[in-house]
Amino acid sequence: MTFNPLRERGIPLDKQLRNWRELNVVPIDPDHADPYTRCRIITMNGIEVEAIMFSHHLARHCPDLEIKQQLARVRYIEAQQQKVVNWLLPGVSSVLETTIAYEQVAVDLTAWVARMEPDSYLKQAYQFGVLEDFDHLYRYANLYEMIEHRKAEKIVDGLTEVMPGRPTYLHHRNPIDNVREPYDRSSTAPISKLHALTIMSAEQQTMNFYMNVGPTAMEPIARQLYQEIGLIEEEHVTHYESLVDPGESWWEMLLNHEYNECYLYHSFMETESDPKVKAIWELHLNMELEHLRLAAELFKRLDGRDPEQVCAPELPAPVTFEPNKAYLRELLSTQIDITTLGTGYVQEAHERFEKMQEALMGGEVAPSERVIDDNRAVSGHEYRLQTEGEHPVHSLAANR
Ligand SMILES: [Fe+2]
Ligand SMILES: [Fe+2]
Ligand SMILES: [Fe+2]
Ligand SMILES: [Fe+2]
Repeated sequence: MTFNPLRERGIPLDKQLRNWRELNVVPIDPDHADPYTRCRIITMNGIEVEAIMFSHHLARHCPDLEIKQQLARVRYIEAQQQKVVNWLLPGVSSVLETTIAYEQVAVDLTAWVARMEPDSYLKQAYQFGVLEDFDHLYRYANLYEMIEHRKAEKIVDGLTEVMPGRPTYLHHRNPIDNVREPYDRSSTAPISKLHALTIMSAEQQTMNFYMNVGPTAMEPIARQLYQEIGLIEEEHVTHYESLVDPGESWWEMLLNHEYNECYLYHSFMETESDPKVKAIWELHLNMELEHLRLAAELFKRLDGRDPEQVCAPELPAPVTFEPNKAYLRELLSTQIDITTLGTGYVQEAHERFEKMQEALMGGEVAPSERVIDDNRAVSGHEYRLQTEGEHPVHSLAANR
């Protein structure tokens, strides 16, 4: 069944405002919820935060009072959506548990996007990045075992494996080498624009999250690990945002944002296992259809083109949270030792990379390495969750 969000009717904007009772959603059950329901919540929070911040930036560049007022009206609804979505997370989870869930999102969302991406250069960007968040998950899981004495399988529930990826200390590149080439807005497939926006938004919220929660940790190793990985998330935002064609007009970008919100709410409505959460995805989809209609009007008026020229004629296959274990193992065995040089990828550490490493490490071992040693000292082993057998890279096998 095809669904063209540009031709659907949503809820009129003046019927979208919710009162306190409607905003006060019941959070998901922390012990029995589907981990992928939590992943969908985190993803949509990242999307709504991007919708809000993008709209603020657009408003700051917009001299027309009436358009600014319309942006403010829609943005207030986006802000209510963000509240509803993120408040589905239960308050009992620790910051570190939420952190592990964020990295699980980064792993399974990026792996799915990498699998589906039709453009080989963009696909490579996702394949490259996913092996880094995969390693972050392993580092935080060790921190979790060491300081909270619990195991990450309680959170990821065996859906995502936890073991070394590209070692975190090797993610610190010269910032120049984090900038990729953008897609071409006139020739790229519409799905590629949606993928880039989705992953950029997810990484951006992870970056923001670590910026704010990092210093709430008390243990020195935890504070240091958040600093280290927080800096890598900055690199990841640079990496993914540079994939988006900066030649898109503000109105085209607004249109793509609203279209992507429709796409993701529709995807999650189709794949959600929790009926109460599914009802929220459906309600928000019906709100987004109206946001998209309003953005399409602005696009026609101010960009002078027809939205059907830049958007997909129907929604692509739903974004799906599902295990990507075999795919990730394949990437581990083929791409673990690459880095970036300029806008491309190379196998060897180059001079600019080495210089950055030296300057940042200052002769010390990175927190991401120390956390594994520290956990071994406390727990007697390092933490891993290898449901599919030994690590595909021989030198990273657990019982080497
Ligand atoms: Fe929204
Ligand atoms: Fe990460
Ligand atoms: Fe990341
Ligand atoms: Fe929206």
